[in-house]
Amino acid sequence: MKPATFNCTVLRDGHQSLAATRMSTEQMLEIAPILDTMGFSALETWGGASIDAGLRFLGELPFNRLDTLKRLAPKTPHMMLLRGQNMVGYTNYADDVVEAFVKMSAKHGMNIFRIFDCLNDPENMRTSIRAAKEAGGIAHGTICYTTSPVHNLEFFAKLGKQIADMGADGIVIKDMAGLIPPSETAALVTALKAKVGLPVWIHTHETAGLGAATYVAGINAGADAVDCSIAPFANGTGQPDCMRMLALLKGYDRCPVVADDFREKLTKISAMLQPIYESLSRFTSHKNEVVNSDTLRYQVPGGMLSNFRSQLKEMNMADKFEEVFAEIPVVRKALGWIPLVTPTSQIVGVQAMMNVKFGRWKNITPQCADVALGYYGHTPAPVDPEVQALCAKKMGKDPITCRPADLIKPGMQDLRDKLTAKNIPATDENCVIYAMFPQQLEDYYAGKRPEPPTAKPKQESYGAPIALTSVGVAASISGHDMKLNIMGREYDVHIEEK
Ligand code: CO
Repeated sequence: MKPATFNCTVLRDGHQSLAATRMSTEQMLEIAPILDTMGFSALETWGGASIDAGLRFLGELPFNRLDTLKRLAPKTPHMMLLRGQNMVGYTNYADDVVEAFVKMSAKHGMNIFRIFDCLNDPENMRTSIRAAKEAGGIAHGTICYTTSPVHNLEFFAKLGKQIADMGADGIVIKDMAGLIPPSETAALVTALKAKVGLPVWIHTHETAGLGAATYVAGINAGADAVDCSIAPFANGTGQPDCMRMLALLKGYDRCPVVADDFREKLTKISAMLQPIYESLSRFTSHKNEVVNSDTLRYQVPGGMLSNFRSQLKEMNMADKFEEVFAEIPVVRKALGWIPLVTPTSQIVGVQAMMNVKFGRWKNITPQCADVALGYYGHTPAPVDPEVQALCAKKMGKDPITCRPADLIKPGMQDLRDKLTAKNIPATDENCVIYAMFPQQLEDYYAGKRPEPPTAKPKQESYGAPIALTSVGVAASISGHDMKLNIMGREYDVHIEEK
């Protein structure tokens, strides 16, 4: 059996998980060419939240980033995360729009399309898998790992087989919350290898400290590749870092084989990433860098936990944290035990908050109602009929059982007409981005640019450290976090902007 290989996620999930997706293309320029010489089986450079965040917060046209990175790293296959029929947006799009998006991505150099669906409904992956193959790309069908009474080895293996039957070239186990135990990983890899016979890749997060052990178990069971990142955009809520994985896998038969200078290059890149990481201090938090077993207790992705804490605070519901989290399995169960991944993590989270604030199912969001009525696709288990009836009444529409995109009219011509009317070049590239992020694309062409994420936060202009030092107290401020040393004792202080 061949050795396993590493994929490198630092240019996408690494900074998505640890710096709110704020790394700019410019900050990647020097690193990408080095990554290209290191023998990774893939570089994850695009997709997921990077397209929305790049356009919205960095004022970057998404295809320009892909062009640049492809030019700087032409040898290694590029990989993107694609939410099936949701593309990189938050709802289902028409088939012709999905096809055009995949085709344009391939045209600009994308090689491996990692395709998942937020409900694990294979029908929602069908168009993307076909489009990726037609465009000459590699289609990796993806299983979103989640825990529930219906999600067991049999469920996941069956899903793997369905995805393979659709023509996928490989299967990915995507563990967005970092919840999969090593023993289950090994069992799932073994089952997929036996039943499906395709390459199996694993993607996890080190959030709860299971990630690295999961990779070791997965590789020993026959996994072909694992996703790793490079510190400081690694570990914690990100992927395990390559250096550590190499050490952990030492002595195992299938330890990835790397060139003599691989570690040296990792060290060099880490040093280059350090100032970039520091420049994004407004979006990083030491809380995300440490292992935190809260996700095991709540069984939700780490990003959802931190978003929730701040959202509940904004709504003056900080004291309701435990109550809201207890409501999450209630909402998931009513909605047929859907996984928690973009966009269902947001939908379930908001509904859980509403249930606690207004009373259970007293106030239902349109997105939650759409999930209950089948407009996102087939749920893993049946939706609670009472909740479904409430949603039907609220939305004034009946539940559907077909593939949701079957009800969506072709959209490309309409997008072209809209862009032309707004004097924006009606290229296929602009059409597919406009379908997902119309306001952001209009702002871009109107010349509006967001404030750079590396701008110094206001707090740093406070004169406090000097004043405090004079009374025997030392303080250093980095973004929203302040370290205080009072009489030799260290204190961490988190500063909130009023
Ligand atoms: Co991820």
